[in-house]
Amino acid sequence: MAKVLYEDQEKVVEDNSEMKKPCEELGVPFACSSGICGTCTVDIVEGEDNLTELSEMEEDLGMDKSQRLSCQCKIKSGDVRIRF
Ligand code: FES
Repeated sequence: MAKVLYEDQEKVVEDNSEMKKPCEELGVPFACSSGICGTCTVDIVEGEDNLTELSEMEEDLGMDKSQRLSCQCKIKSGDVRIRF
């Protein structure tokens, strides 16, 4: 099982789940959901290695592992703490 944490809330998901659903439930705003607009950007406070590698869209936006598009990455396992 994997967990997405934000402040005092947490969402438990299956390993290798998309980040979109738990992030949406935690209040992250979404718009395009296809890696273009940057609306769903979150800072990764802990657990950046528990996410999949950066997508081409994230690289094009100049992101690194500490800042991700939550519509573009998956959580492999373990805990990931976000801030937005
Ligand atoms: S919602 Fe537009 S980049 Fe994720």
